[in-house]
Formats: sequence, C-alpha cells, structure tokens
Amino acid sequence: MGPGKHVSDRRCLRSQRSRVAVAVLVFVATLAIILPPAILVSLRKDNYSMGPKAKVFVPLYVYPTPGAWDPLLNVISAHPDVNFTVVVNPGSGPGPSPLPDGNYTKEVPKLAAHDNVRLLGYVATTYAKRNISLVRKEIETYAAWSTISGDPNLAVRGIFFDETPQQYDAGDLVYLEELTSIVRRTPGLGPDNFVFHNPGAIPDSRYLSTADSTVVFEATYDTFQERDGAKLFEGIPDSDRSQLCAVIHSVPESVGGSELRGLVRQARRIADEIFITHLSTDYYASFSGKWKEFVRMMAQ
Ligand SMILES: *[C@@H]1O[C@H](CO)[C@@H](O)[C@H](O)[C@H]1NC(C)=O
Ligand SMILES: *[C@@H]1O[C@H](CO)[C@@H](O)[C@H](O)[C@H]1NC(C)=O
Ligand SMILES: *[C@@H]1O[C@H](CO)[C@@H](O)[C@H](O)[C@H]1NC(C)=O
Repeated sequence: MGPGKHVSDRRCLRSQRSRVAVAVLVFVATLAIILPPAILVSLRKDNYSMGPKAKVFVPLYVYPTPGAWDPLLNVISAHPDVNFTVVVNPGSGPGPSPLPDGNYTKEVPKLAAHDNVRLLGYVATTYAKRNISLVRKEIETYAAWSTISGDPNLAVRGIFFDETPQQYDAGDLVYLEELTSIVRRTPGLGPDNFVFHNPGAIPDSRYLSTADSTVVFEATYDTFQERDGAKLFEGIPDSDRSQLCAVIHSVPESVGGSELRGLVRQARRIADEIFITHLSTDYYASFSGKWKEFVRMMAQ
C-alpha cells in the first residue's frame, strides 16, 4: 500500500471520471441533435394528422339578446389564427327596415371588429324562383348598413344565398350569375364581396364557379357516416376543397375526444369551411356543449 498505488488509483479514478464525462457529453450532444428534429417531426405529424386548416362556418341564427353571442365572441378572441365565416340573419334576411333592431346594431359590430371574422348577410333565393328584384333589394339593404348607421363595423362582407338550386337549369344559372355580379360590384359588401351558396347538397357542378364557397353537405352525423364522408365529394367534377363547405349536425353526445377529432380531421380534408354541432334540433339557434372543443380542434 505505497503512495504510488495511491496515485495510480487516483489516476484511474480521474480517467474513469473523464470517461464518464465524455460519455455524458456525447449523450447530451446526441440528444441535442436528435431531439429537436424528433419534436418537430412529432409536431408535424400531429398537424398533418389534423389535415389542412379550415375555417369555422357559423350559421348564426341566434337572436342577439345581450350575451347570446358571447360563446362565439369568446372563441373568436381565444383563437385569433382561426378564421370564422359568420352568417347573420336578422329576419329571414336583413328584415323590413333599413337597419336591424338595436340588439343587432350593438352586437354585429363586435363581431365585425375582429380580423379573423368574415360576416355574411343571409338572403333566401327559394331555389332561384324568388323575385330577383326582392333579392337585390335585400342585398342592397345589407350593403347600406354602415352608411346609414355611420358605423363602419355595422357591415357584412358578402352574402349567403340560402336555398340555391341543385339541378341544372340555364335560367337558374343566369339568375345566380346576376346575383353574383350584384355582390361583386356593391361597395358596401367590400372588401371581400364574398358569395356563398347553400343548395344543402352537391349541386350541378356548373353552379360552383358562380360562388366563392358552396355548402355541399348539410345533414346529420349518421348520414355523413353512411355516405362515407371522406369520399363524399369525389364525384364533384372540377372542384376542390377550397370551394366547399360541410355542415354536420346531430352529432351524438357520445362523440367527443379522439372520435370528434377524427370527424373534424375527416371534414377538414374535404372542405375549407366547416360547422359541426351536437345539437339535433334548432342546430343553428344556439351553441352545443362541445362548441369550444370543436373550435379547439379547428385550431390545431
Ligand atoms: C385566415 O385569413 C387570413 C386573412 O384573410 C389569411 O391570410 C389566412 O390564410 C387565413 N387562414 C386560414 C387557415 O384560412
Ligand atoms: C333586445 O333584446 C331584449 C331581450 O330579448 C329585448 O327585451 C329588447 O327589447 C331588445 N331590444 C331591442 C332594441 O329590440
Ligand atoms: C318582382 O317584384 C317587383 C317589385 O316588387 C315587381 O315590380 C315585379 O313585377 C316582380 N316581378 C315578378 C316577376 O313578379
């Protein structure tokens, strides 16, 4: 047991220590190189698995008693990177007066003030059979809201034409083209001058190009499943998801969490505008219990 041995022991310990230190360094360096891409890959996989981003479409057929629109205003503020297309409908159209009632004139500007909201005014067309002068008058009523009220935020940026035809008819196409050109040239509907159609189902594809977006599915969750949602729109010639909107209602309460995620993902793959609700009656008259969860999934 001389000092020499002692020294060699110490040396041995020192070299062992440095070997451990090198091993730790190598391990940490390896982690530093491998981990960030691994994290990125898993994030990317997560994003990818939700499909392309889509806008939340909201048929807001809810009367704006004070607070009634708060569930919508709250998610709009909470998710500034989600875009919302919101249809307002004061009276199956703009209503009989130049301006809607005081609750509307107070609440509409709150929605319009958000950059991630595109407001549209509801107008019925009764399958292209409604007197087009009356339709034009309603479009002009919405367009005049901000000038008449003096409030730049009491305004819509386009029109949601409800009950547009499905079957092709040359006269109906001319009718819809005329409405589109009215919306496009009306300054009070800027800057978007957006045209939305709702035939409620896949229309003749010749109608699609007259609108910026078209509701090609408006039915229950069960129908979406039966018709194999993911393949639903394969049959529409010359269209792509950027032109399409899907409205799925009557989703069973039991469909939440990963099952709801699956539905949202499937819808995002086929349509750029989506509304999903668990309500099975008056689907557009209030917000379902899973409304916030749905919007969170749209944000992912
Ligand atoms: C949301 O709207 C903004 C402004 O129009 C646009 O730049 C952005 O791409 C939109 N995002 C989605 C996900 O639609
Ligand atoms: C706004 O809504 C409330 C509650 O429904 C109602 O009592 C009130 O008369 C409405 N105000 C206007 C100006 O219509
Ligand atoms: C449409 O309505 C306008 C204005 O009310 C009226 O003058 C016109 O005759 C109507 N046209 C048809 C085809 O009913």
